[in-house]
Amino acid sequence: MTVNDFAKKKRNGTVISMVTSYDSWSARLVADSDVDCILVGDSAAMIIHGHPSTLPIDVPRMADHVAAVRRGAPEMFIIADLPFLSFRMGLEKSTENIAELMSAGANAVKLEGAAGNLDLIRHSVESGVPVMGHLGLTPQSVNRFGGFRVQGRTEETATRIAGDARLLQEAGCFAIVLEAVPSDIATNIAADIDIPVIGIGAGANVDGQVLVLQDLLGLTADFKPKFVRNFLDGATLVKKALNDYHREVNARTFPGEKEWYE
Ligand code: KIV
Repeated sequence: MTVNDFAKKKRNGTVISMVTSYDSWSARLVADSDVDCILVGDSAAMIIHGHPSTLPIDVPRMADHVAAVRRGAPEMFIIADLPFLSFRMGLEKSTENIAELMSAGANAVKLEGAAGNLDLIRHSVESGVPVMGHLGLTPQSVNRFGGFRVQGRTEETATRIAGDARLLQEAGCFAIVLEAVPSDIATNIAADIDIPVIGIGAGANVDGQVLVLQDLLGLTADFKPKFVRNFLDGATLVKKALNDYHREVNARTFPGEKEWYE
């Protein structure tokens, strides 16, 4: 997949599948699947580093995650999240931050929101960096929203999100993530713009879907928003494997003859 395939898939009505990955081993598993592309999300702050929000992760740590994912998935299209405020530091410093993620191996960057970001998006696209937008429940604004809340429920906010989607398209974004927005609003936005709208909690009538890999695999047992589907009962399977290992270690049935050196 290249950046051109996003537009092509929208034109052909082919749905885009995207998952997050933050490390080499899971990137290798994704690369071996049919999934279209990888997002190195700043959700790494929560999923990998155990923070309650995405805010604490910084550019160097994101660059480390991007580099690890690139090593695991050398051929895949990788989008890297720009961390909280890292793209609000003026054109020069923000461009340096983008450069760090691109040098680490990203094919594109993603940033949250439209207002105040359009100049940077234009500048980045003109400089050769594909940019993905992110609207709706933009997790970096959790403090402004007063929690992780569905967005676009009022006519005013729905109109603002739809307007922002158009602005992001005009500024040169190649796709937009739309998070936690009522399905009818998301459907209208996807129909209104030419670039793909990749939904998460935005219903089925958009141009693609994205999920956090650990949610998809059922590994985040204590976290299940309405829009998550566990395609595997990963937590139960992993717990069983760990307990089997523990039992066999204690019974001295692991390692067995074939698992040691003569
Ligand atoms: O950081 C992330 O994982 C994301 C997705 C949830 C869209 O931005």
